Amino acid sequence: MRKPFVAGNWKMNLNLAECRELMAALRKGLPDPLPIDVAVCPPFALLFPIQGEVDGTPIKVGAQNLYPEPKGAFTGEISATQIRDTGATYVIIGHSERRHVIGETGELIGRKIPAALKAGLEVIYCVGEKIEEREAGRTEAVVAEQLNHGLTEDLDWSRLTIAYEPVWAIGTGKTATPEQAQEAHAFIRQELAARYNAEWADRIRIQYGGSVKPDNADALMSCPDVDGALVGGASLKAGDFLGIIQAAIRSAS
Ligand code: PGA
Repeated sequence: MRKPFVAGNWKMNLNLAECRELMAALRKGLPDPLPIDVAVCPPFALLFPIQGEVDGTPIKVGAQNLYPEPKGAFTGEISATQIRDTGATYVIIGHSERRHVIGETGELIGRKIPAALKAGLEVIYCVGEKIEEREAGRTEAVVAEQLNHGLTEDLDWSRLTIAYEPVWAIGTGKTATPEQAQEAHAFIRQELAARYNAEWADRIRIQYGGSVKPDNADALMSCPDVDGALVGGASLKAGDFLGIIQAAIRSAS
C-alpha cells in the first residue's frame, strides 16, 4: 500500500505575512496523527522562514526548482545543497511552467534529478502533455519521453515521486477526469516497470496535479494508481488544502 502524498506548490505567490497566516491555519486544522505525507513548496526566498513555521509538525518543506551544478557562476540559480541547508527536504523538478513558460529543456531537467538526490533531497518529478499533444493522441509518447529524460536505473527510487500534471489542467479549472488520470498513471507505472524494475514501479507514488480541489479530490484519489496530489491554486487557501488532505486520508483507509 502506497502512502498518499499531498504537496502544495505555492508558485510565485504569497508574501511572508500571508505565508505565516496560511501556515498557522494549516497547523490548526491538520489532523493529528497525520497518516499521509504533506509538504508545502514556497518560493526560494521563503524556504527559511517557512521551515520555522513547520517545526514540530509533520509538514515538510520543498523547493520549486534547482540548478543541477553544485556551485559556481550561475547568477540567480540555487543548488541542491543550498536548498538542503534551509532544512527543506523536497524539490519539485520539471514543472510545466519551468518547461513551457521559462523554456527549460528535457535535457536540463533530466540533470536536476540526480543532483537533487545526491544532495539528500526527495524529488517530485513532473510530467504531462499539452492539449494539442493530447488531441493528437500523443499523451503517452510525450510522457514516455519526459520519463526518459529524467530517470535512470541507478537512482534512489525510494526518494522519487512522479507528478502527472496535464498542462491543459493546470490553473485552468479543467481537471482531468478520474478515468483520464487513472489511464495516464497506469501508463506511467507500466512504463517504469517495463524499463526499470517492476517492484520500484509498484512502490513509487504518482501524484495527480491540475486543478485539484476539495470537490474533485475524492474521485481522483480513489483511482488505484493515483497516490495523492500536487496542488497549486487550492494550496493557497487553508480550507481547500485541508479538504484535499482529508480526501487523501480517506483514500488511504
Ligand atoms: P493548479 O496547479 O492546482 O493551480 O492547477 C497545479 C500545479 O501547477 O502543480
